[in-house]
Amino acid sequence: MESMSKLPKKCYFGHLYSRMSTNGTYTVCCGRVPSVGNYHKEGRFKEYWKSDKLNTLLLSLQDNLKELNETWAKGHCDYCPHTVINNRLYDYFENDGELLEDFLDLPQIKEIENKVINSAPDTFNIDIINVCDQRCNFCWHWAHDMIEDEAQWGDWGEWIKEKISLEMFKSVVDDLIELGGCYEIQIGGGGEPLLHPDIHEMIRYVKKNNLYCKLITNFSRITDKQLDDLIEVEADEILINISAGTEKTYIETRQVTSRVWNKLLYNIEYIIKNRTTTKPKIILKNILNEANIHDVGEMIDLGIKLKVDVIALRRFLEDEVYQFEDKMIQDNQYKKYNNIVKNKLMKYEYKKYEDSDSFTHTFNSEFTNTLLKGDVVQLFE
Ligand SMILES: C[S@@+](CC[C@H](N)C(=O)[O-])C[C@H]1O[C@@H](n2cnc3c(N)ncnc32)[C@H](O)[C@@H]1O
Ligand code: SF4
Repeated sequence: MESMSKLPKKCYFGHLYSRMSTNGTYTVCCGRVPSVGNYHKEGRFKEYWKSDKLNTLLLSLQDNLKELNETWAKGHCDYCPHTVINNRLYDYFENDGELLEDFLDLPQIKEIENKVINSAPDTFNIDIINVCDQRCNFCWHWAHDMIEDEAQWGDWGEWIKEKISLEMFKSVVDDLIELGGCYEIQIGGGGEPLLHPDIHEMIRYVKKNNLYCKLITNFSRITDKQLDDLIEVEADEILINISAGTEKTYIETRQVTSRVWNKLLYNIEYIIKNRTTTKPKIILKNILNEANIHDVGEMIDLGIKLKVDVIALRRFLEDEVYQFEDKMIQDNQYKKYNNIVKNKLMKYEYKKYEDSDSFTHTFNSEFTNTLLKGDVVQLFE
């Protein structure tokens, strides 16, 4: 069964979200649309954001998306995880559709309508480091089979050494503040952000400047003192790539020992037990693929048992993954695990609701405070 999403009619996403990679490259989405700027060449983020090159690119993504996708992006936008958001915006701008309140308040929405860019993007992702301590089977950059077969791309050996400096990080945050309109900074990487020596300083800087801070992490390498720090600074969200509901699947799919699984559970429980406010929110993210989908019931049970804030069941984006054909969910698996998801929805009394996240399916329940969200459509039909 095809897990590809349809190409959105227009792409507005670059106004709302942008990112910088470890080598200073600025991109307007997940990084698949070719970049028109780099920190080390074009200069600081604010210069790039005001440049004609960027303006032309953002307008083309609205007006010539199909053509750009076929030429520049080489079909990558067919896999776009932001299609849900782009289609909602399309309905609003082109068909007088309703927009969720969260969106209406954004200055960027008016600017898209008027075809101008003044504000910084609402959400900015900074990839701070590329090295990783894990080898998730589905990962674009660190899949264990790719490494075992020595099938990495040409300059991978150089790429994994890249990390950005604290100074560069602060300069981008300063520019986002000066431009105005930025709400959220996401700290991630081509690898594991907790391995960056300045990670906690970076989080502190974001919070000191009253921005929403989301850490995207495998969340295994962290001390109690650093966990306390996350609680103390009120980091807003920790998006944890767990992608398993059992120890067996976790250790098999990412080639780690039981100790790592136990440490991960300890870290999650530590935050939930010791936080004194609703922050940091804990999101358990599961990238569903052939090797872990059999755990889908356990993924839901585990999240509810741990009392996390959100369980996310996310599509595996196969594009550019090593040996992706072997990792794609099979038709018979969709059928089998769709029943399990349905049973869990009933068991925990989940009901559909709507929010502004980029998921096709969102559920809440009076039985548990844990939200369930997903974009693996076949599992919820
Ligand atoms: C490259 S990882 C880096 C941050 C951190 N190491 C982690 O795993 O969260 C960033 C995000 O990409 C996601 N990811 C990696 N490979 C993916 C794939 N093939 N499809 C969908 N998401 C993927 C991970 O789950 C993670 O949330
Ligand atoms: S922890 Fe993150 S970067 Fe590391 S292998 Fe897994 S998905 Fe990739």
